[in-house]
Amino acid sequence: MTDLTDQRLAAQYEAYPYPQRDPRDEAKRLIVGSPGHLREVDYWVFGATRPTSRPLRVLVAGGGSGDATIMLAQQMARQGRQGTVTWLDRSAAALKIAQARAAARGLNNIVWEQRSLLDLPDSGLGPFDYIDCCGVLHHLPDPETGLRALLAVLAPGGGMGLMVYAPHGRTGIYMLQDGLRLLAPPDQDPAARLDIARRVMKHLPETAWLRSNRSVTDHLGGGDAGLYDLLLNPRDRAYTVPALHDLLAGVGLTVACWVEPIRYDPIPLLPDPRLRARIATLSPLQRAALAESLAGNIAAHIVYCTRSSEPARRADPYQPDAVPICREMTGEDIAKTIQVNDTIFFNLDGLRVPVAVPPLAAAILRQIDGKRSVGEIGAQLAARGTSAEAFGRAWRALFPALEAVNRLLLAAPNG
Ligand SMILES: C[S@@+](CC[C@H](N)C(=O)[O-])C[C@H]1O[C@@H](n2cnc3c(N)ncnc32)[C@H](O)[C@@H]1O
Repeated sequence: MTDLTDQRLAAQYEAYPYPQRDPRDEAKRLIVGSPGHLREVDYWVFGATRPTSRPLRVLVAGGGSGDATIMLAQQMARQGRQGTVTWLDRSAAALKIAQARAAARGLNNIVWEQRSLLDLPDSGLGPFDYIDCCGVLHHLPDPETGLRALLAVLAPGGGMGLMVYAPHGRTGIYMLQDGLRLLAPPDQDPAARLDIARRVMKHLPETAWLRSNRSVTDHLGGGDAGLYDLLLNPRDRAYTVPALHDLLAGVGLTVACWVEPIRYDPIPLLPDPRLRARIATLSPLQRAALAESLAGNIAAHIVYCTRSSEPARRADPYQPDAVPICREMTGEDIAKTIQVNDTIFFNLDGLRVPVAVPPLAAAILRQIDGKRSVGEIGAQLAARGTSAEAFGRAWRALFPALEAVNRLLLAAPNG
């Protein structure tokens, strides 16, 4: 199912493959992010219960110029993990860039499929254990149809990582899109439209909401592709927490994690005890909606979800054989950010959130290397005089505190 707007969308991503990337930069850095970070997939999708030896079949639907594909393929290659990452997108221009990036890295675990994700159900592709679909569903003529197409190729026990736009953190964008449609109608050539947008940006009034919006940066550092995608995209819609929940529930998906979980918790935002008593009466979904409304800075929702019909899976972080792992920063690095009052401040798109950690946090964090188990970390601390009770108490405070900011997860079991 396609329409004129969808054809314009396809033309956009041929003219300006997204995101704007230079394959030569692969020699300098690996771009990592959510959704799709392998450690997040291991933990938030599979609950740290799926052995690393099991081949992982990944689909990146609407893979664009390759960020998630390259990240996952590289992370799997580095860890010697078996499996493949299938890049799928309609854009030939994006394919060329993504393939050049993969070649620059010598990755040979990627399968390339230039086609529409709406054709997945009859494609013969799959099934896939993990499906990544970042920044795509909200552009489709009917996002629910797109989601069902993905579900048709999701393996039993599999899960998805999705990103869709959120309205409050995109304040300023839709009004500019409206204005630009008047000056640069969607039926015009993409290059001519981009020229108009660039001219407008030079004269953007100081009161324009986009100027005060710290949650989006595509117009500042995203190049031509970023500016076009933000302000000239022929179709994008934004989902509040309840709207996204409804979309997912409607196709039989349940959110295993809203990333980062703390962003969807109103408690840190409202210290007033009376308000906290009220919050206690709200459902988890209402709390998440409240946090979204209060913070106002969520520009995109990133969720990991699994089938509602399948039992939730999550290893127990308090069992001695659980292996904690930091997502990107090392435990040592996180330990260095602890302030004198046992607090770490996290900056979430301009929102400074204090996270209280126990006094033993630094000592524990320094032991976390993604290999040592909780039992082994406790033994290390015991050798220096920390009682098992004190360690257990500290771990029960530290793990959820840093899990909530998506910095501390559990590793997938070896074997
Ligand atoms: C905003 S880009 C996102 C790219 C990438 N996922 C990322 O986050 O960096 C949207 C991508 O979705 C692709 N796309 C849009 N509709 C599609 C469809 N029906 N089937 C496959 N890809 C599609 C576009 O070609 C484009 O590359």
